[in-house]
Parts: sequence; structure tokens; C-alpha cells
Amino acid sequence: MNNYTICVLPGDGIGPEIVDQAIKVLKVIGEIYGLNINIKNGLIGGAAIDKTDTPLPKDTIKLCKESDAVLLGSVGGPKWDNLPPEKRPERGGLLKLREELELFANIRPVILFNDLKNISPLSLSENSENIDLITIRELSSGIYFGKPKKITENSGIDTMVYRKEEVKKIAEIAFKIALKRRRKICSVDKANVLNSSLLWRKTVSDVSKKYPTVQTEHLYIDNAAMQMILNPSQFDVILTSNLFGDILSDESAALTNSLGMLPSASLGDEINLFEPAGGSAPDIAGKNIANPIAQILSLAMMFEYSFGKKNISDHIYASVKNLIGENIRTADICSTGEKPVSTDKFGDLLCEDMRETF
Ligand code: IPM
Ligand code: MN
Repeated sequence: MNNYTICVLPGDGIGPEIVDQAIKVLKVIGEIYGLNINIKNGLIGGAAIDKTDTPLPKDTIKLCKESDAVLLGSVGGPKWDNLPPEKRPERGGLLKLREELELFANIRPVILFNDLKNISPLSLSENSENIDLITIRELSSGIYFGKPKKITENSGIDTMVYRKEEVKKIAEIAFKIALKRRRKICSVDKANVLNSSLLWRKTVSDVSKKYPTVQTEHLYIDNAAMQMILNPSQFDVILTSNLFGDILSDESAALTNSLGMLPSASLGDEINLFEPAGGSAPDIAGKNIANPIAQILSLAMMFEYSFGKKNISDHIYASVKNLIGENIRTADICSTGEKPVSTDKFGDLLCEDMRETF
């Protein structure tokens, strides 16, 4: 199949400017690989609130469901922070969309490019060698969605609940991914305190029996957060719940210097969505300085996970690596004394490299 319809949801903050770079790359890919790519734009988050008074218009859901994959920028910003919780871009927009599309697995790979090791905050530690880990975060359940969930004047309540079937489903994904990697899974929970974690640990252990060649260990979240800093190269696949995965994946991005380096794939049974993990960064929005790499690598993940074109995904990674190697970098990952390139320029130079290396 060489025809792809891709729903693009730029959203808020730096979303539109980094999505623009991914679109440029997408167009180049269409040209050089001879693919027929049809891009459909939709509204989400604050951008949707401003135009339609709702963070997730019905049209957007329809557009996503009719597409082969969704590319999302980011949502949220101070302008909409005082709206009621379910009308806010994050809850009413992004979380609602994850729910609507039943996206249950969020995959967040951390790769420390060789040429960035010298500026990594962990560069002095021997253990920053060979960091190559991937977080598999359960995305459609846990404390994000459990009921009851409400707020009154004097109390706020969220419910952390996991059902066996949900844990099994995400664990299966993690074990399958581990088989293609270094065959090590670290399941992260808080089983010394939480019932949902007791069930999580027991279920992951049960699933692990089907995969005797994968080495499985269990860590408590507090310890895992510390290990991530002390010795990140011990990790291959981290399997964890919605909330713990949210936190650990941001922490893992710090290993690469910048939240702007962390792409993600959110997988469902029908359709997948690809979005950078970093958020809308309102403080730097509109300045043409944001790092578009997470967005561009999310596009790379689309070619791997949705379209089965690992060669294209590898090509994108290789070009990103080339640019970093040539010191073509946005400010967040520049070495001291180097001149950063703008968001836009990075996108242009990446397109150039992709054409040259085809
Ligand atoms: C992420 C984000 C979201 C989350 C927010 C924006 C709702 O932080 O994708 O990690 O908490 O899942
Ligand atoms: Mn997050």
C-alpha cells in the first residue's frame, strides 16, 4: 500500500511550529519514496476551544477515525488553565482523544545520540554510556481514568484501578517489544502500598511465564526513579502504569538533555497516534526556537509502527543523527559556544539531508 491519509492535529504552544517541520519531512518522504500522502488538518486543545468552544470537536474524532494514522503536536497553555477541568485542553482534548481512539499503549524510546553524550547532564557518569531504553506506558486506564473522579470545594478524588485484562494487554505489548531488543523488562509499580499495583505485579509475572527468554524484574516506582539517574543503562524495556509512565518518561528524557528529544507512539487496536512527549512549552512558543526532533522522530515511529516501513523510519533517524553530528542543533541541545539553528532551519536542513542520503 502506498497511499496514506494522515490526520494532523497541531494543537497549541510549540505544537504548530514543530508539526510544520514534520510535515516538510513527510512531503519529502512522499516524493523520494513515491508515496501518495494525503494530509488532513484538524483542531484540538486550546486552538479548538478558541474556534469551536470545545477542546475536541466531533469532526476531529471523525477525521482521526477515517485516517491511517494521527500526528499530534501538543495541547494546553496558560490561556485555558482556568477552565473547568473537563473543558481544558489536556483533559477534554488529549485525554478524551486517547479514550475515543482507545489508545492503550504509549511507547516512548530514549536514545542518547553519541554526539550528545558530551553535553548530557550525566556525561560525567560512566553509566551514561549506551543508554537505549524504552518506556511502555499503559495509556487508557489507571488513575487518569478511574471512577470516581471528582472535585468539590473541600475534596478532590481520583481512583487508581487496574483490571487484569488491561494489565495483560499492555504486558503482552511490552514482552513482544522486549523480544526484539535486549530481552529485559523492568515492570514498575508501587506494590508495597497500592492494591492496583499488587494486581499489576501478579499479572505481569503471570504473563512473563510465557516469555522465558525475557528477563523480568520488578521495581517500586520510587526506586526506579532513582535508578534512572544512577544507572540508566541497566534498563531496556520499562513497563508501567499510566501515571508512573508519565513521570518516568519525562525523567528519561532528561537523560538526553531535553524533553524536545522524546518521541512517542500511542497504539490502539484500530488506529495509532504519534506525538512528542514534551508538551506545549508555552514559554518558548512562537519564537522559532523549539526543538522539532521529538516531533520528527514521532513521524519516524509512524512509519515503523503504523505503516511497517522501518527503512523510512531508519532514514529519518539517520538524518537526525547526521545533523546533530554536524552541530546543527536547536538551543536546548547546543554545546557551549555554538550557535543554535532555528526550528524552521532545522526542518529545512533535515529535508536536505534526507534527499541527499536517499
Ligand atoms: C504526556 C502529557 C499528558 C499526560 C498531558 C498533557 C495530559 O504530559 O503525554 O505525557 O499526562 O499524559
Ligand atoms: Mn507527560
